[in-house]
Amino acid sequence: MRLTKEFRQQYSQQEMRTHGRKNGFVTTGQEARLLHWLPLIGLPKEKTLRDANIPEGSPVVMEIGFGNGDFLVQQAQLHPDWILVGAEIYLPGVAKAVARLEDAGVVERTRITQLPAQFVMEHQVSAESLDGIFINHPDPWPKKKHHKRRIIQKDFAALMVTRLKPGGFIKLASDIEDLAEWMREILDQTPGLQNMAGDAGYIQRDADRVTTKFEERGNHAGRQSHFLHYQKIVTN
Ligand SMILES: C[S@@+](CC[C@H](N)C(=O)[O-])C[C@H]1O[C@@H](n2cnc3c(N)ncnc32)[C@H](O)[C@@H]1O
Repeated sequence: MRLTKEFRQQYSQQEMRTHGRKNGFVTTGQEARLLHWLPLIGLPKEKTLRDANIPEGSPVVMEIGFGNGDFLVQQAQLHPDWILVGAEIYLPGVAKAVARLEDAGVVERTRITQLPAQFVMEHQVSAESLDGIFINHPDPWPKKKHHKRRIIQKDFAALMVTRLKPGGFIKLASDIEDLAEWMREILDQTPGLQNMAGDAGYIQRDADRVTTKFEERGNHAGRQSHFLHYQKIVTN
């Protein structure tokens, strides 16, 4: 059975304005896995994470733009108590990641969607419900006139803070220096967040971190990656 338009539209938002590719080639095997798993672990657009059968008390951590799932698989393996929510707009990425999560035996601890992270964060995640958010190597949109397409913007940063539990984290990585600096400047000025590197700005690369496809690309091109770690300030 092939993926029908109706099936796909439950988990994607073709009409919503996002930048970046959404469609591309998916193998028949990958389609079969999506047809099996998305009704079980997919987050369709009319539902919220509250309807997503998340076991009471499980830490919930989101990855935005998970690409082919390198990092999602590793985090699920490293943290057997976490539920990982993944948002990725590119269908072939979703398809690859779901297959890899299944092969690693961790797919049932994930909730996956092809909806844009901005939509998910605003409409499907409740206030103070996330323990953490990862954003690895987001699209750099290097031209100045495209900077407004970058995922980290003032409003989105403020929205993320409302969705984090007090003490929750935002961890980011980029191999593009200008983008790392852009993200740091915005997040450093976002009320409610503390940069865990203090004045140093960036943290060291976590030693156990998997090298994602885009980190690898950056390495290959001789670029050094930068890593950021923020925590939502706990107020009494
Ligand atoms: C440069 S790739 C990085 C992929 C992966 N994180 C890595 O490190 O290899 C950026 C990813 O973000 C996805 N993306 C872009 N805008 C998005 C959005 N609004 N919501 C969710 N994912 C998005 C893209 O489709 C792409 O897969």
